[in-house]
Amino acid sequence: MSTDETKVRPLHPEGAPRNPGFAGITGEFDLTEAQIRGTEYVGRRPVDGGHASVAGTLPYQIADRNPDAPLFEGPYAERLEKILTRYPDRQAALLPALHMAQEIRGYLSPQSMDEVAARLELPPAYVRGVATFYTMYNLQPLGKYLIQVCTNISCNLCGADAVLDAFLEHTGNDMGEVSSDGRFTVIEAECLGACGFPTVVQINERFFENVGTQDVPSILEMLK
Ligand code: FES
Repeated sequence: MSTDETKVRPLHPEGAPRNPGFAGITGEFDLTEAQIRGTEYVGRRPVDGGHASVAGTLPYQIADRNPDAPLFEGPYAERLEKILTRYPDRQAALLPALHMAQEIRGYLSPQSMDEVAARLELPPAYVRGVATFYTMYNLQPLGKYLIQVCTNISCNLCGADAVLDAFLEHTGNDMGEVSSDGRFTVIEAECLGACGFPTVVQINERFFENVGTQDVPSILEMLK
């Protein structure tokens, strides 16, 4: 067998658009780190949720929020209808409905929770019980960028405490507070589920892996 025949070839047909994120494609590629990490694929999900099958998921890297924006109006009403088609009853759609309210307003105020309850025809106390159970729901206003530094065991062993301190120092923040320019809130998180790449930092919906203290200034600069 010749050298050419033994060489592993990409599975995609010649000339077809490449998707380097598809694990089934093997072979020799000329990829940049940004392509491998997917940072070139960051985009916004349409506010109406796009196709009903993905309407319950979050858009990537949410940064613009308005705590006074109406909930469930216009394209967001359309998205809620799509979300409801995916569940047996309105109660079952509570988590994505809360996520959508958080996406629009940035956090879940008592008023927002009550509006979700009314829209889904649920008792307000039930909705508050659910919203306060999950740490993914923010119950107070945040900076434009929520920086969550994983300090669980794998990340901790690789310097997560120092990374957390660096974020606090460079943003001039105390933990959980909104920075004076309104841009940043820094908190601890456990565990972000990417333990093979410590220290892991989640900023809004995006993961940053293998973060060291030396990376903190450039990450913050990029967000500015
Ligand atoms: S310990 Fe940090 S991602 Fe799991």
